[in-house]
Amino acid sequence: MEKKWWHKKTAYQIYPKSFYDSNGDGIGDIQGIIQKLDYLKELGVDILWLSPVYLSPCADQGYDIADYYRIDPQFGTMEDMDQLLEEAKKREMHILMDLVVNHCSDEHEWFKKACQDPQGEYGKYFYIEEKKDGKLPCNWRSYFGGNVWEPIPGTDKYYLHLFHKKQPDLNWENPKVREEVYKMVNWWLDKGLAGFRIDAIINIKKPLPFKDYPADREDGLCDMGQVLADARGIGQFLGEMRDTCFLPHGAFTVGEVFNVRKEEIRDFIGEQGYFSSMFDFSQTVEGKSAKGWYASQIPSPDDYKRCCFESQKTAQGIGYLSNIIENHDEPRGVSHYLPPEGRQEKGKKLLAAMYFMLKGLPFIYQGQELGMENSVYQSIEDIDDVGSKDEYRRCLEMGCSEKEALDIVGHYTRDNARTPFQWSCEENGGFTKGKPWLNLNPNYKTINAESQVGKEDSIYSFYQKLIRLRKNPQWQETIVYGETVPILEKEENLMAYYRKGEGQTILVLGNFSGDEKNVNLAQLDWSRAQILLSNDQLEEREKGRVTLQPWQCAVIGISQ
Ligand code: GLC
Ligand code: CA
Repeated sequence: MEKKWWHKKTAYQIYPKSFYDSNGDGIGDIQGIIQKLDYLKELGVDILWLSPVYLSPCADQGYDIADYYRIDPQFGTMEDMDQLLEEAKKREMHILMDLVVNHCSDEHEWFKKACQDPQGEYGKYFYIEEKKDGKLPCNWRSYFGGNVWEPIPGTDKYYLHLFHKKQPDLNWENPKVREEVYKMVNWWLDKGLAGFRIDAIINIKKPLPFKDYPADREDGLCDMGQVLADARGIGQFLGEMRDTCFLPHGAFTVGEVFNVRKEEIRDFIGEQGYFSSMFDFSQTVEGKSAKGWYASQIPSPDDYKRCCFESQKTAQGIGYLSNIIENHDEPRGVSHYLPPEGRQEKGKKLLAAMYFMLKGLPFIYQGQELGMENSVYQSIEDIDDVGSKDEYRRCLEMGCSEKEALDIVGHYTRDNARTPFQWSCEENGGFTKGKPWLNLNPNYKTINAESQVGKEDSIYSFYQKLIRLRKNPQWQETIVYGETVPILEKEENLMAYYRKGEGQTILVLGNFSGDEKNVNLAQLDWSRAQILLSNDQLEEREKGRVTLQPWQCAVIGISQ
């Protein structure tokens, strides 16, 4: 694999609205990020991905952009953004912004002009259609519920939105649209961004002309998964964007790519791929049902392990994945992948080590380094996220009681990741001096940065050690490039793998259960082994057997 500067790094996702509020309006902002750069530097992260801070009416928390060239006043100004780029540079940190170009906001001037004159130039920036024989052009279901067509007031026309109705889809088939997008991307890259995380990108290629697919619910609509499986030719757009924007700038890009066909992974992240990397979502989609959250299953530790290993195998020899346990769209990783008994400090460190030591670029989502958990909700009114309301309605419709519906939605809602960062045990977790835009997780008094930074055995310190280990010249090559070789795969609640390097091997062991686990590692030459990191004492081994304590993980370096 050709070596790239970013392979050795560790990345961190900031959700600006919930990170740190510098001016007391209850909303996190860019100055807040600047003030916390030293905290991030101390943790050891090098690449920061900011969820959107562009001008936005915030129907979908900034993923609905009204002007790509402006910063939303709630987050600050363009000067703040320039200052952030500069301050990050001083600390040898790299900034990624979110590239949201499957759609814009209905308040973007392109869309306003399109509505004024749907037949005109800007009408062609979107998908605008009429009913035929009283029927909408297709029966696709929006990701946030309902059909994907919305009437344009005062006309007999409808526009397409795969997400919220305030997020009209841009028509990538129109070369003018692509030109506008590339111009904007280059403008930002020229400013000094290191690159982008690329939002919802698989949706830009629609199978056309519009047609119905078999309905999969009583609403007569069909899941977008079915539709995308039928789309061909996205490579033309993505290759063009790579050649016009990313390659000339040497930009780092990480795609939010769902529904990719296995045989196309090389096209996405291979040597000549459209992107530098893409997220491995195999565990996040595991157990999710196209029927909705009410029918979804929370993955077991063995499901988790299987997904990780499958992805590692798929990417081996092809490209470099980006690994996560959570992001702003997912439940908190510790609340999702750990069984309830495992959701304590030891279990959280275990999960951290298991994903962090996989091959790929590790991304930490804000608060993950503290072991932040899913929040608690008293009623559906407490939940802000756009998609959650529809899922709640769906649970009730499918026969759940209100309590059951709230439990289910409370587990999956995107609010879990979006509750404000827990800086301290002060009021509002030290996130704001004002009223936070979203309630804090009530556990901020016990889980917060202040009580963990500098404390030897905290979760924060454990993440710090994982990052330092990734940077340790003695082991770095193996951690960054070593092949992942699963072992003892059939052993329940045990996740174990080697990372095979040149002249050395790293062994990663994790016990996902509340019982001791005896592991047979007779083939190992223990005289050459050293424990690089662990969340407990590794018990004396006898004749190649080790005993893992409940929820124990260990990273063992073996030189040859
Ligand atoms: C991506 C984002 C999500 C957003 C959606 C539409 O999936 O991560 O937060 O709602 O795209 O932009
Ligand atoms: Ca603020």
